[in-house]
Amino acid sequence: MSVVLLLYASREGQTRRICECMAEVVRSQGLDAQVRSLSDPDIAYALAQCERLIVGASIHYGRLPPTLYRFIAENHERIEALSGAFFCVNLTARKPGKDTPEGSAYVRTFLRKSPWKPARMAVFAGALYYTRYVWYDRMMIRLIMWITGGPTDVHQDVEFTDWERVRKVALAWVKV
Ligand SMILES: Cc1cc2nc3c(=O)[nH]c(=O)nc-3n(C[C@H](O)[C@H](O)[C@H](O)COP(=O)(O)O)c2cc1C
Repeated sequence: MSVVLLLYASREGQTRRICECMAEVVRSQGLDAQVRSLSDPDIAYALAQCERLIVGASIHYGRLPPTLYRFIAENHERIEALSGAFFCVNLTARKPGKDTPEGSAYVRTFLRKSPWKPARMAVFAGALYYTRYVWYDRMMIRLIMWITGGPTDVHQDVEFTDWERVRKVALAWVKV
């Protein structure tokens, strides 16, 4: 059975949840799906066993995590040989036009820094988990939300992820 490996780099869990949602779509198409963290020590083995790859990572303070670039550098040859896709999760993507690879400055930076240029890419809005952040992060995110016209009530978490779009993208990627 064709195996699709879904790898995530996730701090508050939203990118992991998006991978899990995509894995359900993959399985609904009769394929095998495995969801793993990018920092899983067995990643090279999982990579060797799969036919397709989906990598998701989130933005914190303007950056994708170093684990993502390390993973690409260490496995570049294998990744290039697979049918691969990449998605980026962030809060800027809650705004129309910023939720496409072309409209996302984070994707542009990724493509500049990464030797892997995936043929398929997506950008999804993430979640605002005020109640889970440590004080400093909560204050910084609140400031960013205030500047950019987002929610500023720190007692309320807000999920911006459009799950229907996540399912549609996953289906399109699986059907390629
Ligand atoms: C400390 C912190 C910094 C963040 N910085 C940014 C940022 O610079 N730009 C942005 O668009 N979103 C930013 N976000 C929003 C995250 O990308 C968003 O919450 C996403 O859902 C996190 O995904 P994860 O739970 O998989 O890590 C930040 C969130 C936190 C908690």
